[in-house]
Amino acid sequence: MKPIGTKPIATQRLLLRPQQPSDAGELVAAHSLAMTVDEAKRTVAAMIEEGSKPFAFHWTITLEGHAIGRIKGWEVNPYNGYIQLGYDIGPDYRCKGYMTEAVSAVIRYLLEQAEANRVYCSVRENNTASCRVCEKAGMTHEGTMRQHYARQDGGYDDVRIYGIVKSDLTKGEE
Ligand SMILES: CC(C)(COP(=O)(O)OP(=O)(O)OC[C@H]1O[C@@H](n2cnc3c(N)ncnc32)[C@H](O)[C@@H]1OP(=O)(O)O)[C@@H](O)C(=O)NCCC(=O)NCCS
Repeated sequence: MKPIGTKPIATQRLLLRPQQPSDAGELVAAHSLAMTVDEAKRTVAAMIEEGSKPFAFHWTITLEGHAIGRIKGWEVNPYNGYIQLGYDIGPDYRCKGYMTEAVSAVIRYLLEQAEANRVYCSVRENNTASCRVCEKAGMTHEGTMRQHYARQDGGYDDVRIYGIVKSDLTKGEE
């Protein structure tokens, strides 16, 4: 993998860019961060510091200049060339295809420019919206880990693994 860090990515409707301090208030207003503005400022400052590293990939998703969500590679393994993605977007902006657009662009960035070999997501099976995002972004449902994430009520949720590897991008072109 190449240590290129978080560079801006323009999609058809969105600009994904490195996080900045002013994101805290906007992400709270968009309910992408469910916390007070002061807590969000500390969270965003920590993410900015971590996100400045060469193998860190943390974007703020912006629409018309406003921060509406986040997308982050939170398990980056340069030796094996894989990255796990996590993401969220404010409720007012959901079901408009924005996260599919953002995840698709980040997958291309990571596989083509950062030269990762594999990008994956782990998603609670009942999170239909996130499962759809993974499917629409071209990932394959590779398997399900039974009772992998704890719930607040003491139970456990099954978790789907969705993944895409570099060779998937050129499948069908040979
Ligand atoms: C998951 C999330 C990121 C999706 O973002 P989004 O911008 O709404 O995603 P998109 O609009 O690109 O796609 C959403 C898809 O899910 C579908 N969907 C949304 N809610 C649904 C529901 N309750 N039941 C069934 N389908 C649902 C939409 O119809 C759409 O699919 P379609 O295009 O086939 O109609 C957003 O809901 C979110 O931030 N959730 C909270 C945080 C979270 O769950 N993060 C992921 C953790 S793994």
